[in-house]
Amino acid sequence: MATLAASSSRLAEASAAFAGPVRLSEPYPGSPPLWIEPDGDIPDLPGWMADNHEAIEAALLSFGAIVWRGFPVSETDDFIAMMDHFEPYAKGYAGGTSNRKAIKGPAMEATRTPPQVYIQLHQEMSYMPDNPRALAFWCKVAPDSGGETVICDVRGLLEEIPEKTRHKFENFGARYVRNLRSTDVDDWRADAELRHATWQYWFDSESREDVSAKLTERGTHFTWNEDGSLTFWNSEPAVTTHPLTGDKLYFNQLNSQIQNRWTIGKERADLFDRLYGDHTGRPYAVSFDNGDPVTEEDYLAVRDLFEARKIAFPWQAGDVMLLDNRLTAHGRHAFAGERDVQVMLFD
Ligand SMILES: [Fe+2]
Repeated sequence: MATLAASSSRLAEASAAFAGPVRLSEPYPGSPPLWIEPDGDIPDLPGWMADNHEAIEAALLSFGAIVWRGFPVSETDDFIAMMDHFEPYAKGYAGGTSNRKAIKGPAMEATRTPPQVYIQLHQEMSYMPDNPRALAFWCKVAPDSGGETVICDVRGLLEEIPEKTRHKFENFGARYVRNLRSTDVDDWRADAELRHATWQYWFDSESREDVSAKLTERGTHFTWNEDGSLTFWNSEPAVTTHPLTGDKLYFNQLNSQIQNRWTIGKERADLFDRLYGDHTGRPYAVSFDNGDPVTEEDYLAVRDLFEARKIAFPWQAGDVMLLDNRLTAHGRHAFAGERDVQVMLFD
């Protein structure tokens, strides 16, 4: 039985379920994560993980997230080996909205989104018809300051959204539209300041046929425009029912993908309005699926709930964090210095 550092019923349950010399705690009582530290020698971490698979899965459901600190995870191979008993997400990340590249096997960069940008809390790929069940982050290099992979318990959040806005999330669904320009067309959209990516870069391909096939496989609608750009979109529910716990959960990325004065700053939002207007496809455009915009009132109602529930702890090199993708949202604070955080997605 693991050592118990504090007491709550779910912590007591986890403590009874985990084997081996580990110390469990709940640093933010009532919120994720379950915190696991070594309390003795664990020479074979992947073996310990496999032996404790059931306890890990049960804790993932009760806490929504688990953090391992102080274990020997110093290379990508260690991270992959540690997570070996989790099923990699078979569909991969093609068509995803974050700017990230593969590192090795199932391990990817967390994101290339610039350090000054706060990535708002979201559930991974909730804008797609199919999405990972769980995901794990590993910190190889912690930044000098900031850069926390923030998390938020989504259970009960939907119920706290004011009725007027909640009604829209529950009944209207979500629509996510992306536009990727083409490297062949060198117009104002190529200005690096706009961060309007090309489809060739995004999909690592020069072939329209390849990209069309990937999008079709993912169930994503798309059209190739006359200016060479690619527009693709998904219509998805904005709430979901957790397949194991039965919780009805907020599950969408309307708030994290919307580009308004709150998310990208007034200056940039005005610039986008001036340049793109209603005539040119924007890199990101979201709305409710009935065509209604996400109003500032809607946006702020959800943002304020996420922010009030947010948990942020500084990364230390070697930390691993596993999340249930439906129960727990994640995001990233802006940071200074070098930061290397890698991610794996699981079915
Ligand atoms: Fe993410």
